Amino acid sequence: MMGPAGVAWAALQLALLLLLPLALWHLVLRPRAVARSFARQGIRGPRYTFLAGSMPEAKRLVAAGRIGVPPLDAGCHDIIPLVLPQFHRWVAEYGKTFLFWIGPIPAILSLDLELIKQVLADRTGLFPKDFMIPVLKILFGNGVILINGDDWKRHRKVVLPAFNHDKLKSMTVVTSEVTDRMIQRWRNQIQQNGSHQTAEIDMNLAFCDLTEEIIGRVAFGTSQNHPEAREVVIAMREMQKLGTAATMDPPILWYLPTRRNLRVRHLDKLLKTKIMSIMQARVAARDAKCGYGDDLVGLLLEAWSPEQKGKGETLTTQEVIDEWKTFFAAGQETTATLLVWAMFLLSVHPQWQDKVREEVLQECGSGGDDGEVFNVEVLGKLKLLHMVLLETLRLYPPIEYIQRRAATDVVLKDISVPRGTVISIPIGMLHRDKDVWGPDADKFNPMRFQNGISRAAKDPKALLAFSLGPRACTGQSFSIMEAQVVMAMILSKFSFSLSPKYVHKPKYLLSLAPRSGMPLILRNIDR
Ligand code: HEM
Repeated sequence: MMGPAGVAWAALQLALLLLLPLALWHLVLRPRAVARSFARQGIRGPRYTFLAGSMPEAKRLVAAGRIGVPPLDAGCHDIIPLVLPQFHRWVAEYGKTFLFWIGPIPAILSLDLELIKQVLADRTGLFPKDFMIPVLKILFGNGVILINGDDWKRHRKVVLPAFNHDKLKSMTVVTSEVTDRMIQRWRNQIQQNGSHQTAEIDMNLAFCDLTEEIIGRVAFGTSQNHPEAREVVIAMREMQKLGTAATMDPPILWYLPTRRNLRVRHLDKLLKTKIMSIMQARVAARDAKCGYGDDLVGLLLEAWSPEQKGKGETLTTQEVIDEWKTFFAAGQETTATLLVWAMFLLSVHPQWQDKVREEVLQECGSGGDDGEVFNVEVLGKLKLLHMVLLETLRLYPPIEYIQRRAATDVVLKDISVPRGTVISIPIGMLHRDKDVWGPDADKFNPMRFQNGISRAAKDPKALLAFSLGPRACTGQSFSIMEAQVVMAMILSKFSFSLSPKYVHKPKYLLSLAPRSGMPLILRNIDR
C-alpha cells in the first residue's frame, strides 16, 4: 500500500507528464510554427530563445544604448536610437514590420500607419489590452486603462464626466493656484541668489511635484498636507519605479516571489488601506445637497454607494481603489513629462520661446499677473503655445509605445496574425516617419500644426500621442489645459535656458524622461 507521500509523489509525476506535452507545444513547437508562418509572409525578426524569447537581445541592445551611445547635441531630436534602441536596430535589420518574442509570446511591431489604425480604431473587441506584466497589472489594478469589454464600458461611463468641459473650468483655477505657488518659490530662489538674478531649477523634479499636487486636488480632492494622501503618492511612486524595472525582465521572473515582486505586493496592500481610509473620510463628509462631490472620487463613490445599487452603473470597493491608482499613474507622470520636454524645446529654440511669450503676454493681459488665474476661454487664444505642445507630443511623446493583443486569428492589412500575438505600436517611431510627416520629421517645427492636427501630416490621424479610437486617452483635454496654464504662467514671468549641466540623453521606461534631470537657468523677465 502507498502512503500519503507516495500518493502525492505519484500525482506530481502524473501532472508533470500531462504538462510536458503542453509545455513542449507552447515553449518550443508553437514558437517555431508561428515564426515559419510569419517568414512565409516575408516577416522576420530576432530569433526565439527558449523561455526568454527576444528579451536577452533586447536587454543587451538597451544596455548598449545606455552605455555605448554618447549624449546627443541638445538641438538634435533624433532620440529613437537612445530610447528604443532594440526596436531601432530591429527595424534597420528586418524592415518596417517585424516579429519578436516576449518570452514565448509572439509580438509584431509595425511602422505601417494603416495597420496601426486598423488595430486602434477597432470597436469589436478584436484587439483587447489583455497583455501586461503582472507588476504593472498591480500598479493599474482593474482600472479603465487595462480592462476590456462590458467592464471597460461600465467604468468609462462612470469616469468620463470627471473631465468634461465644465469640470475643466474649475480645474484651470486649481492648476493656476498650484502653479502660482511654484512660481513664488522660484522667485524667492532667484532673490536669494542676489546679484546673479538667476536660479537653476530641475524641471523634472519641479513638474513631478506640481502635477502630483494638481491631480491630487482636481481628481481626488486631497492636498499635499493630507498625510495619508502623501503616503499614497510615495507608495505609488515606488510602485511605478519597481514596475518600470520589471519591464526588461524575462517573463518567468514576473511570476516568481522575487524581492521586487514581494515588495510590490506589500505596497499594494498599503495603498489599499490608505485609499480606503481616505474614501471613508470622504463618505463621512458626504453632504445631502452635493453628495460625494463632483470630482473623480465623488463620481467613483457615487457609483460605489449603496444607494446606487440597482439604479445604473456601479463599482465595487476594489474597483474604486483600482481607478484611483489608475488615474494617478496615468495622469501625473505623463503631464509632467510633456511639461519637461516643452520647456526643453523652448530652451533650445529661444526664438520660439520669445514668440510664445509674446502671444501669452498679448492674449492673457492681466491673466499673467500674480494671483490672477487663467480661464479656459483665454487658453483657446494661445494658438502658438498649443502648436508647441503638439510638436512636443510628436517629438517627445510621454508614452513611446503601447500594446494590444489579437483576441483571435486575424488579418492585419494583408498579414495573417495568429491569436495571442501582441501588437506593439511604437508611437515615437511612427511620429518620425518621413513618408507621413515629411522630410523635416526629425526637426522641431511647430508650424506644421498651424492648420490643426488633422492637416499637420499626410494622414489626419498621424498624431498618436494620446492614441486614437475607443481607447484614446480620457485625460487629454485636462492634460493639455494643465500644460497650457503652467507654460503660460511660467513664460509670462521667466525666460529660461539649458543649464550647462544638462545631458541630452533621454531614456524611456514607463515614460520618456531625461536621464539625469532637466536643469534650466531661470531669469525674471522685466515688464
Ligand atoms: C500628456 C499627457 C498624457 C499622455 C501623453 C497620455 C497618453 C495616453 C495614451 C497613449 C493612452 C492609451 C494607452 C493604451 O492604449 O495603452 C492613454 C490612455 C488613458 N489615459 Fe492618458 N495620457 C496623458 C494624460 C492623462 C491624464 C491627465 C489622465 C487622467 C487624469 C489620463 C488618463 C488616461 C486613461 C484613464 C486612459 C485609458 C483610457 C481607456 O482605455 O479607456 N491620461 N493616455
